[in-house]
Amino acid sequence: MPFSIREFEALARDRLPRYVYDFMAGGADDEVTVRANENAFARLRLLPRVLRGRPKRDLGITLFGDEITMPVVLSPTAFHRLADPEGELATARAAARAGTVMIASMASTASIGDIAKAGGADLALWFQAYIQSDTGITRTLVRRAEDAGCRALVVTVDSPVFGWRERDHRNGFHHLPVGWHCENMRDLTGDGGVLDIEMVADLSWDHIDQLVAMTDLPVVLKGVLHPDDAVTAVDHGVRGLLVSNHGGRQLDTAIATIDAVADIAAVVDVPVLVDGGVRRGTDVVKALAFGARAVGVGRPVLWGLAARGEDGVTEVLELLRAEIDRALALTGCASAHEVARDLVREDRC
Ligand code: FNR
Repeated sequence: MPFSIREFEALARDRLPRYVYDFMAGGADDEVTVRANENAFARLRLLPRVLRGRPKRDLGITLFGDEITMPVVLSPTAFHRLADPEGELATARAAARAGTVMIASMASTASIGDIAKAGGADLALWFQAYIQSDTGITRTLVRRAEDAGCRALVVTVDSPVFGWRERDHRNGFHHLPVGWHCENMRDLTGDGGVLDIEMVADLSWDHIDQLVAMTDLPVVLKGVLHPDDAVTAVDHGVRGLLVSNHGGRQLDTAIATIDAVADIAAVVDVPVLVDGGVRRGTDVVKALAFGARAVGVGRPVLWGLAARGEDGVTEVLELLRAEIDRALALTGCASAHEVARDLVREDRC
């Protein structure tokens, strides 16, 4: 079994067709932000405490009333069947076993209802949506998420247009292989092809008001980086924030997410999550120190899925759990809640 997420990526790279690996690993333009997300974690250094008498660590946290077993959730990523024939169903089973949240992508290759069934009653399932220009379509998607028992709705707001993904253009990757569909879009528009998901450039806070009024589910905005937007979001009834730059796939040279999270956590009192570049337990501890309730992982889940299917996702999550536990012990913390801001320093070398 691989010893690290990096080793899972190497395995996945060996197994996947080149165009699929590139689709997953790649980002926008020069991929400056893809690299920055990881590099920014490495630049931060931990300043541990000692002799605090902490025999055991409790990694659990609460999100919208659900207790989850560690401060790591599965960020939404498209097209899991490209990684494994079982696709999102395998991912859901692994997330349920790990006792954490899966945020299912609107661009899943299984429907939200089928993902919920695969995960079973134990899975805290959230649904990620892009607001569509046809309100009827957005409403149907929201109802399907509610009917599937989703616990929150994540609205991605960093994509008024598609980022320029040069690897995909070079590889000619614009459609799913024949027979696979965005199942959540089936019978809403066309045949559920990738291009049926619309990026809507005129989205504004009015759309968020509409969405918040449409559902009792907590609405989480994904892709907020500016603290002023975070404050505005809460004013509009948003109940949580996922600080994200889409894994560097949208606006290249956007700020690394770990550099954005502290300023946002300081100005809102809703749960703040952050994703982008989390590859080690120490990264998670740094995010917690900056005020995040939890982190999201995108590519690591895909690497696990591509390398070893459902078991691979389980192994990636359990690797992270063990690393977080060890990082907490080594920094003198007994729980996620004990991780204080002064555990992190900027690199001075
Ligand atoms: C994504 N991401 C994404 N986000 C979203 O809101 N809806 C989506 O359908 C997708 N699809 C998607 C596909 C692939 C292949 C990747 C790599 C990413 C972004 C994702 O939710 C998350 O923000 C990043 O992946 C986090 O960065 P890391 O963990 O991959 O570094």
